[in-house]
Amino acid sequence: MGSEAGASKPVIKVAAICGSLRKGSFNRGLIRSAIQISKESINGMQIEYVDISPLPMLNTDLEVDGKYPAAVEAFRQKILEADAFLFASPEYNYSVTGPLKNAIDWASRSPNVWADKAAAIVSAAGSLGGARAQYHLRQIGVYLDLHFINKPEFFLNAFESPAKFDTDGNLIDSASRDRLKALLLALQAFTLRLQGCSLHLPTMSESLIQSCGGTEEEGPVVKAHTKENAGEGFHAWANFRLGTTSESADWYNFKRFNQGRRAVKQLEDRYWKLRERERVYKLSLVGTWVLVIVLMLFFWVMNDGNVCCRRNFYYHSSI
Ligand SMILES: Cc1cc2nc3c(=O)[nH]c(=O)nc-3n(C[C@H](O)[C@H](O)[C@H](O)COP(=O)(O)O)c2cc1C
Repeated sequence: MGSEAGASKPVIKVAAICGSLRKGSFNRGLIRSAIQISKESINGMQIEYVDISPLPMLNTDLEVDGKYPAAVEAFRQKILEADAFLFASPEYNYSVTGPLKNAIDWASRSPNVWADKAAAIVSAAGSLGGARAQYHLRQIGVYLDLHFINKPEFFLNAFESPAKFDTDGNLIDSASRDRLKALLLALQAFTLRLQGCSLHLPTMSESLIQSCGGTEEEGPVVKAHTKENAGEGFHAWANFRLGTTSESADWYNFKRFNQGRRAVKQLEDRYWKLRERERVYKLSLVGTWVLVIVLMLFFWVMNDGNVCCRRNFYYHSSI
């Protein structure tokens, strides 16, 4: 997430992916419109079209030494860098298209670069406007850990009159353009909300250390962002979530949030490594003590000075 000079909102990067490879694709037309709308009238949103046509068909034999083919690496990088996704998905036989599924699968290979990001779907197709494909895509997103906005939904019957697209696949229907803008605004708000989550930003790393009160299995507990543990930034953040804060306050909090989020991740990793080391240390300590006790018993039994025991020992061993 970056910032534009003078802009008061953080800029979210949206990767737009089209499921159709067709030159005059209506769905790619929707993406072109979305890019235009975001440039003209949405502050803080940058949409980049990411072409999936160079991707080879998925074949895990193409993964060599943990590396993917160049086109796949480039695609995965774009997905990784994005804050959110806009899928423009035609419907093929009641589902998503082969090329789209292929692209999704490539970026899902380890590490899954879709994870924990916001997404929205638009579709231009036949009578139901691609609804069935959209619901399949949502189902795929469950495993990918994508978070789709629920509303507004955008289905467009591309073949209904009056015409929705010109012969080059450009969206010419103003009502659809308005609906598209509403969807983009919802995606922007949801992405920012998702990135904000509910952690208390300014003192996250402190609270992580202070409140490691969770069980060993659960790991460290990060304090929830509640009124009780709120610092100065809390109200602006909470108000943002309710949509009432000033824009400068949003920006202030987002910057701090992203720093805090990284810190938490690092601390969590370090915590688990330490726990693992502690477990190994405890095991080796117990092992050493057991060995020492066994050796002591052995020497005690064999000790010449302990006549009673020797007698018992010889007595038992002669039976
Ligand atoms: C193989 C194939 C299967 C299709 N199946 C469906 C379908 O199940 N439902 C539907 O509404 N449209 C279906 N269509 C129509 C496409 O969704 C429609 O042509 C759409 O405009 C294609 O997207 P594009 O213009 O972005 O290429 C199918 C098209 C093809 C080529």
